Amino acid sequence: MGSVADDGRIAMAVLVMIGSLTGMAYPCTTIFSFGDSLADTGNLNVISPSNYCFSPPYGQTFFHHPSGRCSDGRLIIDFIAESLGIPAVKPYLGMKKFGDLNSAVKGANFAVAGSTALDFSFLQERGIHAENNYSLTVQLNWFREFLHALCSSSHNCHEVVANSLFLVGEIGGNDFNYALFQQKSIPEIKTFVPYVLNAIVSAVNELIDLGARTLMIPGDLPLGCSARYLTIYGSMDKNEYDQNGCLKWLNEFVEYYNQKLQSEINRLRRLHPYANLIYADYYNAALPLYNDPTILGFPGLKICCGNGGPYNYNTSAVCGDPGVIACDNPSQYIGWDGLHLTEAAYKFITDGLINGPYSHPQFKTLCFMNVSCGYFNTYID
Ligand SMILES: *[C@@H]1O[C@H](CO)[C@@H](O)[C@H](O)[C@H]1NC(C)=O
Ligand SMILES: *[C@@H]1O[C@H](CO)[C@@H](O)[C@H](O)[C@H]1NC(C)=O
Ligand SMILES: *[C@@H]1O[C@H](CO)[C@@H](O)[C@H](O)[C@H]1NC(C)=O
Repeated sequence: MGSVADDGRIAMAVLVMIGSLTGMAYPCTTIFSFGDSLADTGNLNVISPSNYCFSPPYGQTFFHHPSGRCSDGRLIIDFIAESLGIPAVKPYLGMKKFGDLNSAVKGANFAVAGSTALDFSFLQERGIHAENNYSLTVQLNWFREFLHALCSSSHNCHEVVANSLFLVGEIGGNDFNYALFQQKSIPEIKTFVPYVLNAIVSAVNELIDLGARTLMIPGDLPLGCSARYLTIYGSMDKNEYDQNGCLKWLNEFVEYYNQKLQSEINRLRRLHPYANLIYADYYNAALPLYNDPTILGFPGLKICCGNGGPYNYNTSAVCGDPGVIACDNPSQYIGWDGLHLTEAAYKFITDGLINGPYSHPQFKTLCFMNVSCGYFNTYID
């Protein structure tokens, strides 16, 4: 490990010199993002404005109105952009709708709330009904369409791609969510983990082929602590819960999946020694919130926006439905609507990625040098 860090410092020092000689573009000043509701900043809002995420009290914190995000306020991608000193990443479909695709050169978000890593038809063949069909394949097609337009205009499209941060995920969580909502068993769900991983790996390979050099790939959150799952999978058996009151079997599944994802990322690092592949450990970055319930303020797993029940999650009236109101102080809660977290929780997680130990290799080392988007590493976990 020590020598990896030293190599990194040397590589960085070399790049600092090269950067100052060639006046290279600033690093990671552009973000391209793929994923689901954890990263969607407005795409689903264009496609399906009547979705529950786009009614009050969504967006009440910070934006003070529904903002196209499935939370009370900003998401992890917003805090990453802020930390890099760049504006919020605009939704691709929004730019397209308003004839503003030229500004996609400054970054674009292809993530769509509710989307899956796997294609709609793949899941349907296995009896799993996805709520939309904007899978990773569809999002990558949009990116290719955008890149084609960029490269046929006067822009130096290759430089743009090489100097961008690609956020690939979190994606795959919904493939599992839809199966879990339909009460599929964990052994059955585990059989399609390799397909989800393959979809993510293919997307990463394709982006690298298109010139991407710095990619951040997040794992899934501790689903076993979500009010929605705690409600639909509630049990009288105390052994099903961990010391924080979360569902052990569900968090164990997420740990299993995240472990497999990291193995795939390691394999990709060997395949692409000139790409920076960052694993973003959303799971462990979120865990301190559940371990120490006083961090944000409100102790416990009850969500802010809901309509009664032990976790304030009520299947017959959810956040965004008429009459369902938010708590007085969302910044004290971890969970917002039962599946999505509050802005405060996303801010805490992002801080753990940027300033804490939850990005591998450290995001800060790669993206905060005013040289190029990272150094080409030999980082193998
Ligand atoms: C997505 O699904 C809708 C309706 O279910 C269908 O009309 C549309 O063609 C599908 N789009 C893609 C890209 O498969
Ligand atoms: C859930 O919401 C319904 C509809 O508003 C309401 O009638 C019911 O009392 C709520 N359940 C709980 C446990 O509060
Ligand atoms: C990078 O450059 C920006 C803009 O010039 C500056 O605000 C920022 O402090 C610099 N960051 C580092 C780490 O030097």
